Amino acid sequence: MSSPRVLIAGNWKMNGRLSEATSLAQAVAKGAKTGGAELLICPPFPVLASVKGVLASAPVALGAQDCHAKVSGAHTGDVAAEMLRDVGCSYVIVGHSERRTDHEETDGDVRAKAEAALRAGLKPIVCVGETLAQRDAAQTLGVVADQIAHSIPETATAANVVVAYEPVWAIGTGRTPTVEQVAEVHAKIRADLEARFADGASFRILYGGSVKGSNAAELLAVANVDGALIGGASLKAEEFLAIAAAAPDRT
Ligand code: 13P
Repeated sequence: MSSPRVLIAGNWKMNGRLSEATSLAQAVAKGAKTGGAELLICPPFPVLASVKGVLASAPVALGAQDCHAKVSGAHTGDVAAEMLRDVGCSYVIVGHSERRTDHEETDGDVRAKAEAALRAGLKPIVCVGETLAQRDAAQTLGVVADQIAHSIPETATAANVVVAYEPVWAIGTGRTPTVEQVAEVHAKIRADLEARFADGASFRILYGGSVKGSNAAELLAVANVDGALIGGASLKAEEFLAIAAAAPDRT
C-alpha cells in the first residue's frame, strides 16, 4: 500500500490581525509548490474569509481551529462547521490541548465536534497528547489510546479524518520528544486505528509540538509520521515553507 500524502498544517492559534494574516497567507501562497506535501493553514475565525480570498487558487488549503457540534442555535460566540465550510474551509482542528485545557473540552465534546465537521463536509484534525505529568508517570500510551478511542467518530475513514499527536509538554516549549518516543506513540496510534478501522493503515497521523525548519526532516522521517501540525513556526512563511520542503516525497 502506498503511504498517505504528507500534510503540513499551520495552526496560527490566536495570532494574525487582518493585515498580518493576509500578508502571511500571501507569502505562503507564493512559495507553495504543487505536487509536494499538502499545505494547510488554520487562521483565527475573523480572518478566514479574507485569507481564503488571498489564497485564491494557490495549492494551500484553509482550515479553522475549532467548531461547535450543532448546526445553528443559541450558542453565543460559537461557530458551526457549516459556517466554516461556507467561507472555504476544508479542514478544522478539534480537541487541541489548548481547548481541552482552556475550555475543559472532553473526549466526548471533541468527538461531537469531529462528527459535526464530517456532517459539514470538513475533515477534522483530531488532536491527542499527554501532559508532562502523565509522561513522567509512564501513562503516555494509555492516555493517548483512551483519547483516540473516545475522540474519533465511528464513521471516520482515512480519507476524511486526520489524527495529530501533540505532547502537551512539547507545545510552544522548544522541547521535542526523541524520535524513539515519537515512533513509539505513532506506532501505538497506528495499531489502534488498524484494530478499529478497515483502512486504519492509511490514516494520516501528524506530529505536533515545537516543529521547526531545523528539526522537521528528522521528525517527518519517523515511521507513521505523515505530516506535522505547526504552531509558532507557521507564523513565518519561510519557516513554514522550509518545513514543507523537508517533508519526504510521497504521493
Ligand atoms: P508549537 O509548534 O508552537 O509548539 O505549537 C504546536 C501546536 O500546538 C500546533 O497545534
